[in-house]
Amino acid sequence: MKSLVNPETGMIDRRILTDRDIYKQELEQVFGRCWIVIGHESLISNPNDFHSGYIGEDPILMTRDAKGKTHAFLNMCRHRGNRVCRADYGNAPSFMCTYHGWTFATDGKLVGVPGYKEAYFEELDRSQWGLIEASCDSYKGIVFATWDKSAPSLVDYLGDAAWYLDLILDRRAGGTELLGGMQRHMMATNWKIPSDNIAGDSTHVPVTHGSMGMIGALGSRTRPTTLSANPTSVNVYAGNGHGFIGKYDGPPREVNEGMNIGGVVAEYYQQHAAEFKRRMGEARANQMGGPTNIFPSTAFLGTSIVRMRIPRSPLKTEEWTYCLVDKDAPREVKADQKRRLTFQSGASGIMESDDSNNWDQVSRSGTFWKAKEYPVNYQLGLGRDKRSEMMPGTLSPNLSETNQRGFYAFWAEMMDASSWSQVKLSPKTFSK
Ligand code: FES
Ligand SMILES: [Fe+2]
Repeated sequence: MKSLVNPETGMIDRRILTDRDIYKQELEQVFGRCWIVIGHESLISNPNDFHSGYIGEDPILMTRDAKGKTHAFLNMCRHRGNRVCRADYGNAPSFMCTYHGWTFATDGKLVGVPGYKEAYFEELDRSQWGLIEASCDSYKGIVFATWDKSAPSLVDYLGDAAWYLDLILDRRAGGTELLGGMQRHMMATNWKIPSDNIAGDSTHVPVTHGSMGMIGALGSRTRPTTLSANPTSVNVYAGNGHGFIGKYDGPPREVNEGMNIGGVVAEYYQQHAAEFKRRMGEARANQMGGPTNIFPSTAFLGTSIVRMRIPRSPLKTEEWTYCLVDKDAPREVKADQKRRLTFQSGASGIMESDDSNNWDQVSRSGTFWKAKEYPVNYQLGLGRDKRSEMMPGTLSPNLSETNQRGFYAFWAEMMDASSWSQVKLSPKTFSK
């Protein structure tokens, strides 16, 4: 892939967005090997709760078994391969396949086989035919799974990205939860374009989302159609493909907007700011928690939205959007965050519609006979990165494509490596 992705020149061959063989390879070598977000512990808070998700195109069933242990299973009956659970989420002690009735417990064990005595003569070794299980771990509530037994630990995989994830997930002692239910929609884009966008694309905001500025939906009523460097905003490439957009000129937009509402909501954010500072320390709390992409394809949009981007084909990506809230926040605050998610970033949200059409056009350019000869340009801010004593990762001004270059460089590394032992992970460089 080194010939297709060149972080030194900032040029990327657009065929990586459309080529079917590359897509098949990335299902195996990127999604099949990396730690993939499949949900949040709050979605399965009780014994026998389950929730569905995906690793690449493979359907996953996340469960909490009767004893309280979390699992990630391939949602596939071991008999013929039917999907063993059709519901998105719920609570059930077992799952009976709708084809011939094989039944699996929430710990994955095969506990029921019609005709076990009369037709299999008890010769079927049921212990060998349980659900296929992925390795599973969680970071501050977010549940990840991987198929690769040789994958690094989740903490090593996240590396410096954990420092920035804490700004989203560790704001209060009670932690976070996802509000029940998700918004799902399909986008006509290769999965990498929305991922590189969240990883560090500050420059599209004033143009793509210009109309939001005009109606005051970006915090103030502006028409920000020209780019200007924002000295209080910074992009951070956190290593291992993860990117973060930070700002230190005040709270995240969702908090600012909440303050404007007044009443219980504003009061909550005021109290919460002090606790957040105490937990993070002054310097870290100044990085208020902005858009973050955890490689390969999970987006945190500030502190209140999580999105899993699920590849469906080279030019199709399904998006599952959840509302992330502080668990101990009052009802009014949770309702406010959900309302704003729907208006701005849900399937029919103003922001999502702005973005999707651009991503569709960019991705499809790789299918055109003439267009595909010309590379995608990621040269903004080339050679102007720096490191900071105060923050982990590689910093660049907000008008930079350093994070995107890092995203594609790590993608190419995963695609070229025959195993994790050939991947050079960026280590975690902070101690707390
Ligand atoms: S496919 Fe599930 S029981 Fe036959
Ligand atoms: Fe956008």
